[in-house]
Amino acid sequence: MFEITAFDAPLGAEITNFDFSRDGHLVDEIVEAWHQHVILVFRDQPTEPRTLASIARIFGTPVRQPLQRPEYQVEGFPELRLLSSLHIDTLGDREPLRIGGSWHTDHSHFPVPPRATILQAIKIPEQGGDTCFSNQRSAYEALDEETRSRIDSLSAKHVYNSRFTPRRMPTITGDEGKKQPEALHPVARPHPDTGNRSIYLNPVRVDGIEGMDDEAAMALVNELMDHSTADEFVYRHKWRVGDVLIWDNRQALHMVHHDYAPDVERLMIRTMIEGP
Ligand code: OGA
Ligand code: MN
Repeated sequence: MFEITAFDAPLGAEITNFDFSRDGHLVDEIVEAWHQHVILVFRDQPTEPRTLASIARIFGTPVRQPLQRPEYQVEGFPELRLLSSLHIDTLGDREPLRIGGSWHTDHSHFPVPPRATILQAIKIPEQGGDTCFSNQRSAYEALDEETRSRIDSLSAKHVYNSRFTPRRMPTITGDEGKKQPEALHPVARPHPDTGNRSIYLNPVRVDGIEGMDDEAAMALVNELMDHSTADEFVYRHKWRVGDVLIWDNRQALHMVHHDYAPDVERLMIRTMIEGP
């Protein structure tokens, strides 16, 4: 039987001795631990596509990856994609994409964003390439009552790449560009399964807040982001090959540190779970 051990951190727990073929049916126990800890790390999992595809089904229905390029594909697994530090912006400037290098939550410009993202580490640089996660539920709960009641009724507009973004998203053209949705989401979003609110913002996608002018909206976004990404809410994950890490996009922000040599490959496999 597996063991779940909370990290000595504001969020996160690891699962050791997990064997999908033996333990994969213990869905309620695993999902409940995940809601509580926001991220779970399954240690020492076999590095083959089947692992991620199987673990994903514990948490819901995997989604087809919305942006596909030939170099991302995993044959026979349309719900998986490769995420390599050597991938470049093929439709744009052909520079490395460096996906995920600033605080964000995944695909928040979708009306129903994926509830979870799951990564498995395949190749990790000797130094660097850690991913940080911030607990947006604790960050919300730590706000004073006045701020909470001020933001409880606000909604932010999320787009593919905000006018105020700190980071460019991959270049998209033609139909793929036209297909990108926009969405309004509560700034203090109630969790669909537990009802607890989290600060739900995303500096790469948030293009405004309903009823506020741009300057006031962005000042509020920056203020809430400074608060919610402070060290007291952050866990920094040092990857081991084989780690399968699932995070709750509704309760966490994440960002990877691309602080390793440009010619070193950092390779992950990714999948996402349908929302809400
Ligand atoms: C992602 C992402 C971070 C990482 O896959 O959505 O942000 O550590 N990845 O590669
Ligand atoms: Mn991401």
